[in-house]
Amino acid sequence: MTTLAIDNIGLLVTNDPELGIVRDAALVFEGERVAAVERAGHADADERIDAAGRCVIPGFVDSHTHLVFAGERGDEFAARMAGAPYAAGGIRATVEATRAAGAGQLRALAGERRREALRAGITHVEIKSGYALDVAGERRLCEVAAELTDDVTFLGAHVVPQEFAGRADDYVALVCGAMLDACEPHARWADVFCEEGAFDADQSRAVLEAGRAAGLGLRIHANQLGAGPGVRLGVELGAASADHCTYLTDSDVEALAGGDTVATFLPATDFSTRQPYPDARRAIDAGVSVAIATNCNPGSSYTTAMAFCIALAVRDMRMTAEEALTAATLGGARALRRSDIGHLAPGARADAVVLAAPSYAHLVYRPGVPLVATTIARGQVVFSSTP
Ligand code: NIG
Repeated sequence: MTTLAIDNIGLLVTNDPELGIVRDAALVFEGERVAAVERAGHADADERIDAAGRCVIPGFVDSHTHLVFAGERGDEFAARMAGAPYAAGGIRATVEATRAAGAGQLRALAGERRREALRAGITHVEIKSGYALDVAGERRLCEVAAELTDDVTFLGAHVVPQEFAGRADDYVALVCGAMLDACEPHARWADVFCEEGAFDADQSRAVLEAGRAAGLGLRIHANQLGAGPGVRLGVELGAASADHCTYLTDSDVEALAGGDTVATFLPATDFSTRQPYPDARRAIDAGVSVAIATNCNPGSSYTTAMAFCIALAVRDMRMTAEEALTAATLGGARALRRSDIGHLAPGARADAVVLAAPSYAHLVYRPGVPLVATTIARGQVVFSSTP
């Protein structure tokens, strides 16, 4: 099996254990796996990348994206910046564009976004359906997503589509029946948007319980636009992750701290929808397990820039740079209940990023600067800023 070493690493973050800093190191991959962490200059390998004293981190794990869609909503964003509020109903505009697109077009669009994410250092993505909202369309979105990741999430319960206006319960029955049956073979997770304007607590519970009965793991969009029942419902049902968590009450924090559900923060969404940022410090200090993800989608967060999310988390959510980096790597892996990614211990997936910086702190210190020099996924160089 071919071996590859990243040598002369000034600062290596292994997340083994948490953060796991090694200075003057070499990281050795064998095939698709991490083989060893050695002293700089002492690694024996077929191929070598010279990190020239720079920082190497585990690849980012983006545990919340909606990469498969057609169209864009720049006008809606501009209206928001001029004072209009974000509302769940905007999703329907993307549903219309996505329904009109062919599978080939959706595949090409999603593939380009996946490549953009690799350039941003994201070596693993979760991808949701949710922009077709009919049986054949949702299955198609899950199939396209499954070509890009093994963490596909069925999100038929994203919003009630126009043709079911005033008949939300009938739509929930479809989601829990024929739509789930069509999507489940391609998915690992079931999700629901539990929010004013989307699905209430009873409907969300029905969707998640049906997903669980079909053998899927659970995730929930919760407490994005206001305090609500979503976080507590997610914890009660044992969801792997409650995502957004922008508005957390004391009882939400208490439930998260006492349960197995990761709180996944999506700071680029709060930026793009002009919402307050969640108080991550309060959650972390209470013992909540946290992740950070991009939530790349055309409505509330059209970005694959995980470094930007980290910068926001540190600047505006009172996380330290160390906590934010951990949340965007190991935290994302925990939110997906995976132990093979998000860290660089021997045996882990060979997913790493060479930063054009001496420290991960530069992700915050130099906001907006493209600091990903090289992305390695499954032991292969998949992006390099120098040709
Ligand atoms: O996670 N909140 C629900 N779903 C997406 C937004 C989708 C959209 O506006 O198109 C989110 O923010």
